[in-house]
Amino acid sequence: MPTILTEIDQVRNQAFDDLKAITSVEQLDDFRIKYLSRKGTVSALFQKMGALSSADRPEAGRLLNVLRDDIQNRFAERKLSLQSVKTSSAKVDLSLPGRKSFPGSKHPLVQTLDEIKAIFSTMGFAVADGPEVEDDFHNFGALNFPPDHPARDMQDTFFLSKTALLRTHTSPMQIRVMENQSPPVRVLIPGKVYRNEAVSPRSLCVFHQVEGLYVAKGVTFSELKGTLASFIHQFYGSGIKYKFRPTFFPFTEPSADIYISCFICGGKGCRMCKMGGWLEILGCGMIHPEVFRSVKYDPEIHTGYAFGMGIERIAALRYGVDDLRLFYDNDLRFLSQF
Ligand code: PHE
Repeated sequence: MPTILTEIDQVRNQAFDDLKAITSVEQLDDFRIKYLSRKGTVSALFQKMGALSSADRPEAGRLLNVLRDDIQNRFAERKLSLQSVKTSSAKVDLSLPGRKSFPGSKHPLVQTLDEIKAIFSTMGFAVADGPEVEDDFHNFGALNFPPDHPARDMQDTFFLSKTALLRTHTSPMQIRVMENQSPPVRVLIPGKVYRNEAVSPRSLCVFHQVEGLYVAKGVTFSELKGTLASFIHQFYGSGIKYKFRPTFFPFTEPSADIYISCFICGGKGCRMCKMGGWLEILGCGMIHPEVFRSVKYDPEIHTGYAFGMGIERIAALRYGVDDLRLFYDNDLRFLSQF
């Protein structure tokens, strides 16, 4: 009995070592024949049982069965792992170029807005936002629009009910900020605005504006001019020329539109500037005393300025995009250029 026990242990150790040394599926078959076939080592041990005493035989039989199962199990495991190495290595072609990933990026309108915010934040402007559904008072009345102003017409404004409407500009936020805060105030308010207009390359019915508002004691038009000139030079480059042209807004007096020299043609005249050499980029002006009265600010004590610009327009002018609708098509061929 003791000899067969030692032999069982030796065979197990040898078999396990042999299995570990196997590196190919072909060698597996040699192993199987050597240990597990009818003429293999395990069978030979079973045959030796005939020479044992009847007292030792049952225990030796049990141990031999365990040995056979152990070797068979290890063999099956090794076979599986060798096969999976084989199939995977056959499929991996290390010479193939890597798979390209497509990381997202910020939409050009968001990039433009981020830059505008960054420039004005260095000049002390906080950022605020507010509701897109407005009432007549904030969108028109408090901003000194007369009751019969054409913008109040259904043709130009989307009304949700008799009193609720989709804001047509971000200027109602001037009112909301001043209602909630006493001067001084210096804020930038970006947001969506809505106008009942036919969609075309030059106009959208939903677009974005950035409103700026500064109110304090003794704010002058030259501060307005200096702030916006600084913005223009930071945003478009120091070589750009600008001009202020008088215009009219009900909520500012005096009011101006700012034009910059066309950066495509340098002012000589091209398709971009419609041969005029100048591009309009924003509206601005000194806050009208009536607006101050509607928010209970005293126009004798405080003065201020406001400005508003369309982000789509600013981005289009900067990147030379000739159709505003491209910003909303979500065509990757367009978006990936920014
Ligand atoms: N709200 C004006 C517009 O939509 C722009 C503007 C804002 C003009 C602030 C003057 C001051 O056209």
